[in-house]
Amino acid sequence: MSAPSYQSPKGVHDILPDDHLYFTFIKKVVRHHCRRAGFRRISTPIFEDVEVFTRSIGDSSDIVEKEMFTLESKSGKKYALKPEGTAGVVRAYLQHGMQQLPKPIEFYYIEPFFRYNRPQKGRYRQFHQFGFEAIGEQDPAIDAQIIYLSYRINQDLGIADRLTLQLNTIGSMDDRKQYREDLINFYTGKERSLCEDCRRRMHENPMRLLDCKEEDCRILASMAPKLEKVISEESKEHFRLLQEYLKELKVPYVLNPMLVRGLDYYTHTVYEFWSKAEGAQNAIGGGGRYDGLVELMGGQPTPAIGYAAGMERVVEYMKEAGIRPPNKDKVAVFVAQLGQVAKKKSLSLINELRDLGINTVGAVGKDSMKAQMGLADKLEAQYSLILGQIEVQDGTIILRNMKKGSQETVPFDGIVKKMSELLGENMLKDKKLWEE
Ligand code: HAM
Repeated sequence: MSAPSYQSPKGVHDILPDDHLYFTFIKKVVRHHCRRAGFRRISTPIFEDVEVFTRSIGDSSDIVEKEMFTLESKSGKKYALKPEGTAGVVRAYLQHGMQQLPKPIEFYYIEPFFRYNRPQKGRYRQFHQFGFEAIGEQDPAIDAQIIYLSYRINQDLGIADRLTLQLNTIGSMDDRKQYREDLINFYTGKERSLCEDCRRRMHENPMRLLDCKEEDCRILASMAPKLEKVISEESKEHFRLLQEYLKELKVPYVLNPMLVRGLDYYTHTVYEFWSKAEGAQNAIGGGGRYDGLVELMGGQPTPAIGYAAGMERVVEYMKEAGIRPPNKDKVAVFVAQLGQVAKKKSLSLINELRDLGINTVGAVGKDSMKAQMGLADKLEAQYSLILGQIEVQDGTIILRNMKKGSQETVPFDGIVKKMSELLGENMLKDKKLWEE
């Protein structure tokens, strides 16, 4: 068989039904915990003015420098597909006058994002994140609650034990101004030992040099002045209290002074969840405080903190952990029919069963009984209801238990009620899946 003419573009993927079981499960876990904690869902557009991202994420970040999908309108206006969620949420917060609302204002989102990076395992050009943001509160207890929420979600996804929480403080913007100078002084004269990217970034954003993966850069980074030395007492106290609260909440963490995160808007607390597995490189999620961002985007100075996790990476970890999400797509009843009158009767039977909350499939386009029963087997239906000419005449229907291979002829009237009794509580509980 020759390959199909069209393939999805490089780095983007279809989410096929089996994987949707995972995505749906993750969404439900996130929605459950966010709602319980008073967060409300927000969606921002797939694309925004390019400045929304350049201004907030930072001109010298990888995302802005090389990973944004930009678009130009016919009039020459520049847009970008959203590479992350925080910038858009802050833009929406300001645009809709939400500064007037009681603080903190807490949002969550489950959305697709786009980054033009080199596709590799766990790194795609279109991916999905779930994330949350709490705007308007300074207290480290909020940091602890946000970290706890992300940890708690990992627990219910069944992956918390496979991850470590990496935690650091990067101080205030003022602390970092001083540190920036210290770093530039340290690297001046050592440019030849740096990789090309680091040489370029040295003056724009020297902190990025600390998390470069190149060997020579790493050696230099280990000798560079330490951020801890310039962090203000206030920021240290914030971090100390946060750790106290995390201990109280029994959230295990590892202090990682090298963790800086790749987006410029962060201040004070930063954190990521890393795999415990040897050689695993990709963080499953990350976040932190961004106390300067609202002001940078044109609002009043407003503290804030948030987190986002990559859903494709979560799915990968769940699969590695052997976690199978519940399969709500399972077919409970297959309705087979033979002859025109039976076909007509089966149409309303199928819909009555569905309305009762029973997953029901009927191959009403197929006339051969053999083909229909073959399909019922393939779909692993629990029961088949078979309606032939004789049954129509007699006012009966054949009820077949597919697992046991046993069958009986029962009255057609009352079959819907009988099926709901047979399938019991579980199936009826799901009557309207969206009510969950
Ligand atoms: P981020 O670290 O850039 O943070 O992304 C968060 C997560 O999104 C990553 O840990 C990863 O799991 C996933 N991710 C990022 N890029 C890709 C990709 N190309 N392919 C697959 N997954 C990816 C943020 O986006 C911040 N907005 C988080 C935040 C919210 N900070 C404060 N509030």
